[in-house]
Amino acid sequence: MSSSTGTNDHPVHDLIGIGFGPSNLALAIAAVEHNDQANDTERVAVRFFERQPAFGWHRGMLLDDATMQVSFLKDLVTLRNPASSFSFLSYLHECGRLVDFINHKTLFPLRLEFHAYLEWASARVADLVDWGHEVTRLEPVLEGDEVVALDVTARELNADGTGREVTYRARNVVIATGLQPRFPEGISGSEHVWHNQQLLHRVEEIDVEAARRFVVVGAGQSAAEVTAFLHGRFPEAEVVSVFSRYGYSPADDSPFANRIFDPDAVDDFFEAPVHVKKLLMGYHANTNYSVVDGELIEELYRRTYQEKVVGRERLTMMNVARVEAVREQDSSVAVTVRSLTGDRTVDIDADLAVFATGYDPVDPLPLLGDLAAFCPPDTGGRLRVQRDYRVETTPGIRCGIYLQGGTEHTHGLSSSLLSTIAVRAGEILASVVAGTPSVQPAGGAKAPAAALRRLIS
Ligand code: FDA
Ligand code: NAP
Repeated sequence: MSSSTGTNDHPVHDLIGIGFGPSNLALAIAAVEHNDQANDTERVAVRFFERQPAFGWHRGMLLDDATMQVSFLKDLVTLRNPASSFSFLSYLHECGRLVDFINHKTLFPLRLEFHAYLEWASARVADLVDWGHEVTRLEPVLEGDEVVALDVTARELNADGTGREVTYRARNVVIATGLQPRFPEGISGSEHVWHNQQLLHRVEEIDVEAARRFVVVGAGQSAAEVTAFLHGRFPEAEVVSVFSRYGYSPADDSPFANRIFDPDAVDDFFEAPVHVKKLLMGYHANTNYSVVDGELIEELYRRTYQEKVVGRERLTMMNVARVEAVREQDSSVAVTVRSLTGDRTVDIDADLAVFATGYDPVDPLPLLGDLAAFCPPDTGGRLRVQRDYRVETTPGIRCGIYLQGGTEHTHGLSSSLLSTIAVRAGEILASVVAGTPSVQPAGGAKAPAAALRRLIS
């Protein structure tokens, strides 16, 4: 099933991935490992587009001391193929740190180290990626009334904003475009109003000596990390942390609750009726959302207490409060905060307001364009997604559209996380191999069971 020449001289790929973060990186590796063992008819031709010029994973939040929120064993491959040479342990072995890491006795490496691991893995499959290319549209390729392939168009992103367009043809596309920053309604980014996603990209703009006051909005992991970071980096400045809770709450990472991120939990969630899905999300949201790593909470508390003792309180919390408005001023921002207990407002004059108010999955619909007509939505207007992450389509479409991310409503909490990416990549690849007509033996049977087992296990 490897690349063949289609109509209009377009090479036809079995799979084109949009975005090359950890999800599609895991898929690229699954494809490489599959091809290594497959015979000529089983091989898949894959290609990926990534708009960044090189691999990067949330670089704006790569803080020196931040650690992973997931075990390193949930890396790009291990849960699918523990013998893979693309594991985090293989990376440590190759860079001569395996023994040191073992002595460290942790499951949670620094984010910087995991980023280096992801870069190392992506470098090994970099020839499969068109870097600096943003996919702008998908178009159906029709044969009669049937959609038999998809044209994927990407714009090359040059530094001056120009760039030529390229179009590749695919039998399947896998959309893994990740998350986008979320601001509260009525607030948007500006000179002195940032989302935490921008933090390290812009922090050099602020003079360490001159900074007087920062406001950090939110009480999730990002907010706590940004609060600690600004407080440490700007030793003369106040940091005011604004949130609606009474205090930061710890992430539930206890072992039974953690099962919600198991590969099997995806089956349970997927099969559950809608009201049970809602119950599960409610019970276990505190494993991931609006919660903070326990050690970081202790550290922030330690700092506030120490400052109380010393008599110079730079780190303060405005709890049970919401930011109501922000107003850009000449060289600062006025942040209006409403206390929810006394229903009073106060204006804070700050050098910068950082909104650590979460992320939303990027909506795939604008990319789908005319193809959306082939993808009937559910009652909530969202794409219907099958267990194998394939978007449900009308009968007239023979190619596959898969989602990695943006499937929390169907596949549960691990949808936007790293927990199941290794297994998910294997499942998607197995589905592509099984569903692509050219691998089906005569008679329309599925691809050989041995090949599928290799992909999933
Ligand atoms: P991700 O967002 O990483 O990648 C998407 C890629 O698509 C990007 O590289 C983007 O440039 C590209 N792209 C988007 N649109 C495109 C287009 N039109 N054309 C071409 N390319 C396009 N989870 C976890 O399990 N453990 C953890 O420790 C953390 N830590 C963490 C820290 C921070 C700061 C954040 C914000 C999030 C986490 N997460 C996390 C959750 C996070 O979503 C997860 O780690 C992965 O980033 C998910 O990988 P994806 O590849 O799906 O998306
Ligand atoms: P989050 O968990 O969704 O938290 C968002 C915070 O913003 C919440 O406290 C929320 O408060 C608040 N908020 C949302 N809308 C608001 C509004 N309109 N006004 C005021 N406050 C508002 O987001 P996150 O902290 O960015 O975490 C997102 C994901 O990234 C998680 O999976 C997290 O684990 C991951 N992450 C990981 C690391 C790491 O690995 N070290 C670092 C950062 C993030 P309410 O609850 O009151 O709405």
